[in-house]
Amino acid sequence: MEISSLEESRREAIFQARVDAEEKIEPKDWMPEAYRKNLIRQISQHGHSEVVGQLPEGNWITRAPTLRRKAVLLAKVQDEAGHGLYLYSATETLGIAREELMEQLLTGKAKYASIFNYPTLSWADVGAIGWLVDGAAIVNQISLCRTSYGPYARAMVRICKEESFHMRQGYEIMTVLARGSQEQKAMAQDALNRWWWPTLMMFGPHDADSAHSGSSMKWKIKRQSNDELRQKFVDQSVAQAQHLNLKIPDEKLKWNDERGHYDFGEIDWDEFTAVLGGAGPCNHERLEARRIAHEQGDWVRDAMFAHAEKQRQRDVRKTA
Ligand code: 3HC
Repeated sequence: MEISSLEESRREAIFQARVDAEEKIEPKDWMPEAYRKNLIRQISQHGHSEVVGQLPEGNWITRAPTLRRKAVLLAKVQDEAGHGLYLYSATETLGIAREELMEQLLTGKAKYASIFNYPTLSWADVGAIGWLVDGAAIVNQISLCRTSYGPYARAMVRICKEESFHMRQGYEIMTVLARGSQEQKAMAQDALNRWWWPTLMMFGPHDADSAHSGSSMKWKIKRQSNDELRQKFVDQSVAQAQHLNLKIPDEKLKWNDERGHYDFGEIDWDEFTAVLGGAGPCNHERLEARRIAHEQGDWVRDAMFAHAEKQRQRDVRKTA
């Protein structure tokens, strides 16, 4: 039913007052169409990131150095699948079907975190991903626990609990390597060199270049800005790298007493844009893996839908 623009403005004012009062917006509540669309965009891409994010580490499950490392990595990668499902379920509460979300990912229409388009070249990469990538995800996701959309905020609380295990297991791998042989230490340093800058890109463009931050902050979808969260991540990571006796690959990294933060160098935004545009080292491989998995999973979906339909018919007969 069409509503007048006056009525729309009235509803928007009530909506904004609810957001400003820190009320959670729930699926059945009235919300501006732009708020709903922004959430579908962000939450679905967050879910795609979790699902695609399994691929780089999954590459090392069969090559983990010990049974314990294999079990821990299996548990972590399995967690990421669950995170994807929570987030897809949260997205569906906004009125979009799972099939449509899948189609957006598999056709390349939807984004996922650029970080997952980089290769995992050594076992140390599994450590660097847990330490840095999951560490960055935690910084971002702790902030998102306060997001205005109820289902998203609640999914974040559960996900953050599991992310802390992910980060800790990664940091433990890096600790063992950094205190190991010269070759192991060199492998850990090489992984830090390759994963540091792509991890900083996870926080998005600078605030001034962010297409969505203005509305996302107004609607409290985002509680802290891209640059603020990136700075928080850099500040926490420096001491962690020092503890490992590893060197962060940034000559401009320096404590700034006045700011109370670390100054650091500039991200290669051309690389960021290129990877977002599909020209990263593994973009094609990642999407191809997802397409093959989706096709091979067809029979499972058919069986589940057939079972659900049979159950529905049984229920109809019972109530007839
Ligand atoms: N990779 C891919 N796309 C990115 C990106 C990145 N690192 N950073 C920004 N973008 C995209 C945005 O999606 C947007 O594109 P779109 O309009 O097509 O959606 C565009 O660049 C402009 O960026 P904005 O800053 O304006 O976009 P946002 O306001 O959405 O901010 C964000 C970007 C900070 C990533 C925000 O979307 C967000 O906080 N998302 C939720 C967290 C998330 O998705 N994390 C991904 C990693 S999940 C993970 O690491 C799992 C862990 O378990 C390993």
